[in-house]
Amino acid sequence: MHIIINPNNISYAVNCLKKGEVLAIPTETVYGLAADISQEKAVQNIFILKNRPFDHPLIIHIANKQDLGRYAIEIPPYAHRLVEKFWPGPLTLVLKKSELVGNWVTGNRATVAIRMPDHPLTLQLIEKLGRPLAAPSANKFGKVSPTQVDHVIQEFGTEVKVLAGGDCNVGIESTIIDATHPTHCKILRSGMLSPTMIEQTIGQEFLLNNDNTSAPQVPGFFKSHYAPFKPCFLFKNVEEYKTIKRKFPGKCYLLSFSSLLGELGEEGKLMPLDPEYYARELYRALRTADTSISEVIAIEHPPLQPKWGGIIDRLLKATYGTHREIEHE
Ligand code: TXA
Ligand code: MG
Repeated sequence: MHIIINPNNISYAVNCLKKGEVLAIPTETVYGLAADISQEKAVQNIFILKNRPFDHPLIIHIANKQDLGRYAIEIPPYAHRLVEKFWPGPLTLVLKKSELVGNWVTGNRATVAIRMPDHPLTLQLIEKLGRPLAAPSANKFGKVSPTQVDHVIQEFGTEVKVLAGGDCNVGIESTIIDATHPTHCKILRSGMLSPTMIEQTIGQEFLLNNDNTSAPQVPGFFKSHYAPFKPCFLFKNVEEYKTIKRKFPGKCYLLSFSSLLGELGEEGKLMPLDPEYYARELYRALRTADTSISEVIAIEHPPLQPKWGGIIDRLLKATYGTHREIEHE
């Protein structure tokens, strides 16, 4: 069976979706595992393929800004400003859903997460299908998201076809904003759109400060997520790195910024000091590290600056549990 769908064969991909198949699709953030939102059975299959709990809601993907008003209701003015500025792009809005969105997509919630992805193939696909696509990231539940075709194949083998759209440009999942309140919003999941960029678009007074105590009560926001199979640690300095080595004296795969890589004599990857390039590389690097001969992965902590927020969030989740071990040594 051919599992890779050629980019100039969009009409074949559309037919697969019409028949109720689940397809892996490219977006600018990560590859998604997509089905037509109107087909309950097809959407259920996404959950089954991913091993994802059924109450864990999905993002729907539209091809036009104008369609926002078909699938969401009571859209606050600040949300329109965000859409104008950032769509198509890595921004998801949570809004009250219209009756066109079935409960099988939202896990029985009255809200829907919605975005317009910035990838020409997927926009064409949605346009030709005439309906939005429900799509979580195309990885097994809790694991590292795929940013290129062969990552999807690593996750699902021949279980799903992949529309080949090249490597993802952004590299980590979209920023999710709760926009259900008429006068203020909140970041539910950080991404490459930083709080500063959001405030500059809508005004500071519209964005509530995030603190961990107000973490959203939605399935899917787990402390551990995006996790490699191997033990994975974050370290801030050579001392912390040495602590890791005391626990795991065997080979270590290093993702680091500096000359540490050569100095410490480990295999690994020199990571870019620009957050946009770093995000694009991150999941690929984690997958390479996971399949290397090393028994453990050590990641140098990025600078504590807002533009690194989305990346630090993913690193903390990928290393959850282990970073505490190091700090409390
Ligand atoms: O970049 C992305 O967002 C990628 C691409 C494929 O679009 N998608 C993605 O989907 O990361 P997923 O399912 O892996 O993560 C979606 C997150 C989940 O944590 C889910 O709980 C949250 O969105 N979510 C979905 N619907 C929601 C809702 N109604 N209210 C609050 N959170 C919601
Ligand atoms: Mg995901």
